[in-house]
Amino acid sequence: MSLNVSKIVKKTEQLISTESSYVPLFFYPKNDIDQIKINQLLDDDSVVVHDEIRGQLSELIKCQNPSRKFSASDLENEISKKLGGDSIYEYGIWVYYPWSKKLIHILDKVEFIDVRTSRNQYKITLHEREILAQKKIGVIGLSVGQSVSVTLAMERVCGELRLADFDTLELTNLNRIRTGLQNLGLSKCISVAREISEIDPFITIKCFTQGLNEDNMDSFFLDGGKLDLLVEESDGLDIKILSRYKAKELKVPVIMEASDRCMLDIERFDLHPQRPVLHGLLDNLDIAKLKTLKTNEDKIPYMLDIVGIDTISTRAKASMMEIGETISTWPQLASAVTLGGGITADVSRRVLLNYYTGSGRFYIDVEDIIKNDNTNVNESNFVFKNNFNASIEEEIIDFIKSDAQIVSDKSIELDKKLITELVLDATKAPSGGNAQPWIWYHKGKKLYLLQDVLRSSPLLDYDRMASRVALGAAIENLILSAQNNNLNIKINYFPYQADKNLVASFEFFETNYSSSEIEKKFSSNLYSLINLRLTNRNIENRIEIPTEELAELANVANEIEGCELKIITDLNKINELGSIIAEVEKLRIMHDEGHKNFLDEIRWTPQENLKTKDGIDIETCDLTIAELTGFKMAKDKKVIQYLNQWKGGTAFEKLSKKSTAGASALGLITMPTYSKESVVDGGRAMEKVWIKANGLGIAFQPQSPATFLFARLIHGHGEGLDDNMLERLPMLRKKYKEIWNIENDNMGEIFLFRLFKGAKPVVNSLRRDINEVLIFV
Ligand SMILES: Cc1cc2nc3c(=O)[nH]c(=O)nc-3n(C[C@H](O)[C@H](O)[C@H](O)COP(=O)(O)O)c2cc1C
Repeated sequence: MSLNVSKIVKKTEQLISTESSYVPLFFYPKNDIDQIKINQLLDDDSVVVHDEIRGQLSELIKCQNPSRKFSASDLENEISKKLGGDSIYEYGIWVYYPWSKKLIHILDKVEFIDVRTSRNQYKITLHEREILAQKKIGVIGLSVGQSVSVTLAMERVCGELRLADFDTLELTNLNRIRTGLQNLGLSKCISVAREISEIDPFITIKCFTQGLNEDNMDSFFLDGGKLDLLVEESDGLDIKILSRYKAKELKVPVIMEASDRCMLDIERFDLHPQRPVLHGLLDNLDIAKLKTLKTNEDKIPYMLDIVGIDTISTRAKASMMEIGETISTWPQLASAVTLGGGITADVSRRVLLNYYTGSGRFYIDVEDIIKNDNTNVNESNFVFKNNFNASIEEEIIDFIKSDAQIVSDKSIELDKKLITELVLDATKAPSGGNAQPWIWYHKGKKLYLLQDVLRSSPLLDYDRMASRVALGAAIENLILSAQNNNLNIKINYFPYQADKNLVASFEFFETNYSSSEIEKKFSSNLYSLINLRLTNRNIENRIEIPTEELAELANVANEIEGCELKIITDLNKINELGSIIAEVEKLRIMHDEGHKNFLDEIRWTPQENLKTKDGIDIETCDLTIAELTGFKMAKDKKVIQYLNQWKGGTAFEKLSKKSTAGASALGLITMPTYSKESVVDGGRAMEKVWIKANGLGIAFQPQSPATFLFARLIHGHGEGLDDNMLERLPMLRKKYKEIWNIENDNMGEIFLFRLFKGAKPVVNSLRRDINEVLIFV
């Protein structure tokens, strides 16, 4: 046997279309014509009849005589009296519901309302009930709106409801909209209208099944009398705003409940028509732009402006991060929607009765009132230390004081002005997170470079690698600046055996003085390009870089002994590496300490940036509004904890993937060994390559987390890595090694970056004032 498919289709269509009706039909049995109609319906075998009028009459009699106790026979007597000799079947009204083909016998309007609302007294008095029965409420958006509308109807907070929603019911709605499977495909408006009319057929309902739009807005607000209240629960950003402007114009109060933390907005445009819509939260928004926002990704930032990014629940925030990754849209729960329905109906009643006259935003956050006390969060036990203690600094200064006495033959003493000029050039160097991990000391004929260990992102700065790369870059700049001032320079790495913080000491000579110890690698003559060098995080389309230019970069890297610049231009390999780089970025941000370091290094506002003159100005990150919103949500540590629990967070890979997709080449600077000196030298090579690239008009962006986390994995045997990293990094590393052709884990893998062609960033990074970093001892 097979199913009769055409019949399934036809009957479903019939059910949905014929049943676009939502108005019940009333038949009065004492009216002759209505009697004929009732009989016709009774003759139709498909009509279901439900007659519980006797029970309703008993209840009516009890309600009208609350102090009396009725026996069964008393009640029968009273019912007979009420009927006055008529048949019970002719009492009251027969209501026919065409969509369900049900004919139901009920009391007439006044008695029906009396009985149905009798339990409201005196939470709602009869007088209040009469006032409310005159009220007209418009509801836009029927998820939370469904719950609100049905509650308003049950409580009889109004006599008329205008419902607007263009959507039809889908299975995914049934986690929060209380309706039956038989209504799938049906307009949400009609479903709600029917549900209400099955509870109380005397409430007037008007459905706007096309949803609200500019064309029907007037009709929604005004036809049949002006609305007394608008309950706005729409997902459509434009309608959210436009309906408020209309409400403001017509002086109609607005209530909105966002089913997260039960956030409730009240805007009394009836009493305070000058109020800005949405409390002024979107005052800067261009209304014309609203209509151009199509995708969730477009809309979420504005939605978040409305609900407040810092005030939405952590789960909602974390879920937003997963939209388009592991879920398709934002979550809403039945509990929240039900709660929202109740709270909104309560407040609506008090607004309509003018008992509450204020406007504002309120939270009835159940989780805040009844807090979870059993949150099992796995935090890593590893403590990231920065090896700093004040006595070491004193000890180093003591060392400097004595070491400065020991000078090379022919070294010269530079004046403070020149030293300042040299150090200013040196500090133009790049540093991870723009931490500027340097302090310069000058004493006599010697200049010293100290690593400022407090300026380090401990997770990435494994074994001080990131800091030393930056210090190497600063040394390179110092050398170039000395060269520009006709000075030769002698560098002594790690002069203080007892401590690794002191990275180098420098002595200066006239250029006509030469010895084997003098730094000779001045050949690339890059000084004039120092000021051009910068980090470019722009996202661009891929354009090929001529091989000769790439060869020039490799050549400057070779100026550092043993250094090699590996370059990959093959698109497939770039993409494969892009995925690895992106996943490592994600792992970094999802790591407890990595997340903390990430927050420490971002400067969210120009003010913050100007104040610290370090860190990464968010403006330099070429983020779309949606990406920026994502970053803002990622500020919350608890969001990260949720994403970890859900094995989510892929949104953090997106930006990095986009940037490598536009890369013309990826570069990796390597040294023959992994030692503190070769890391500093690798930093010097990086600076040379970077300056050279920028000089050739090639943009440069480091992609450093992979390098530094792999170093932690290999040289640090995974110390401080969390479980996610320990699971994923070895696999990523294996692929990474294959692509780069790395055979030996003990070589110095110093620095990974992308090269591309594209526009320059508009904002430059800042540096701390020279007097904070240069000390004359
Ligand atoms: C060791 C090191 C690691 C870096 N890592 C990254 C990185 O992973 N991503 C990035 O966009 N920039 C990275 N940078 C660039 C710095 O953020 C940048 O140099 C700093 O903000 C100063 O800006 P500037 O290079 O434009 O002068 C890194 C720089 C260094 C020296």
